[in-house]
Amino acid sequence: MARNLITLITRDHRELEKMFGPLGRAPEKRERLVREVAARFVAHGNAAEEYLYPVAEHEAGETDGVRGCAAEHHKAEEILERLSATDCGSPLFDDRLHELVDVVRRHVRQEEDEILPALAKAVSTERLEELGAAFDRMRQEEVRRILSAGKAPLTRDELYEQAEKMGIEGRSHMNREELAESLQRRKG
Ligand SMILES: [Fe+2]
Repeated sequence: MARNLITLITRDHRELEKMFGPLGRAPEKRERLVREVAARFVAHGNAAEEYLYPVAEHEAGETDGVRGCAAEHHKAEEILERLSATDCGSPLFDDRLHELVDVVRRHVRQEEDEILPALAKAVSTERLEELGAAFDRMRQEEVRRILSAGKAPLTRDELYEQAEKMGIEGRSHMNREELAESLQRRKG
């Protein structure tokens, strides 16, 4: 049961939702958490596009639901990209975080209320376990790939360290975006 596609996707959703609370409450952890949420969510979406959506569409007749879910996934990815580039202490960060939470909630509701029940009816337990194993493997590989590819932006501390090495003046008064900009200018 542990590797059933439905239980794995549902568990993934609960884990993502659990990260939203600290993201709103603990500003000092935001940079690390945004990076982690982004990696997990993109990995979840990529694995769903490979192992959930095609099966839900072709074997459970969930064409419209799948389209809606995939669209919400892409919208959430765009917001996450913008959130990663937003200064953690700014009010804009909170606005974008709310926007993200809304989109993810809609996505979760649609997937869990519509797509997964349809899939449970249409597909055998054995097949759900096979799909689950493949989904889980891809999801874990994707998280590793995304985090190690540096696709997630550097934190302020990491940028500060680079600025220190390059002797950028005024670095201690700069926020994350200003540090990134100065480094970019210096690197030419
Ligand atoms: Fe999902």
